[in-house]
Amino acid sequence: MSDKAPLHYIYDGIEEHDNNLPNWWLFLLWTTLIFAAGYWFWYHVAEVSPGQLGEYRAEAAEVAKRAGSNKPASDETLLALMQDPTTVGGGKAVFQTNCASCHGAQGQGLIGPNLTDPFWMHGGKPVAIHKVVAEGVVSKGMPAWERTLGAERVKAVTAYVLTLKGTNAPSGKEPQGEPEQP
Ligand code: HEC
Repeated sequence: MSDKAPLHYIYDGIEEHDNNLPNWWLFLLWTTLIFAAGYWFWYHVAEVSPGQLGEYRAEAAEVAKRAGSNKPASDETLLALMQDPTTVGGGKAVFQTNCASCHGAQGQGLIGPNLTDPFWMHGGKPVAIHKVVAEGVVSKGMPAWERTLGAERVKAVTAYVLTLKGTNAPSGKEPQGEPEQP
């Protein structure tokens, strides 16, 4: 008994001695405490690095900026979307499904006008194209697409149409409208 730490308590024959805490346990305790204090200071007090929420917000902002999708359609946002391959790819799929029947698979024109020549009836600026696609020219046979496709896909297909501009697809329909002003 004498080599053990002082007896503290006996219950049901189980002896509780007043031992020192093991060093490995104390080491873990202090390491985690110091780590936690350092972590708290680094991320929450000094904010040296962004925390999880900050990182998430930065990433979300980056995605939104790249897609330009949370912004209203303007020449700038549509031109930015045109630079984004994912958006243009999605727009191309929308075009093949919904537009190619009237405008041709390359946008060369069939019932609808040629979208690859420099002539436009309703203007060749990004916002002008977006407006025609969104609202249509219903009396002339161009449907309004915003209601059926939604704002996102209308922007994406507009971005795709912008990539067709000036490609002058072979055997395209004869020009209609005015040449685009530079
Ligand atoms: C039912 C046939 C039809 C479909 C489907 C159709 N269009 Fe059209 N589109 C037309 C016609 C017809 C016009 C010409 C309207 C006019 O004479 O003012 C037109 C005009 C346009 C114009 C304006 C061209 C200019 O010279 O100013 C754009 C841009 C356009 N369409 C894009 C699209 C897109 C994108 C889609 C698919 C989401 C689509 N269209 C689907 C028939 C169609």
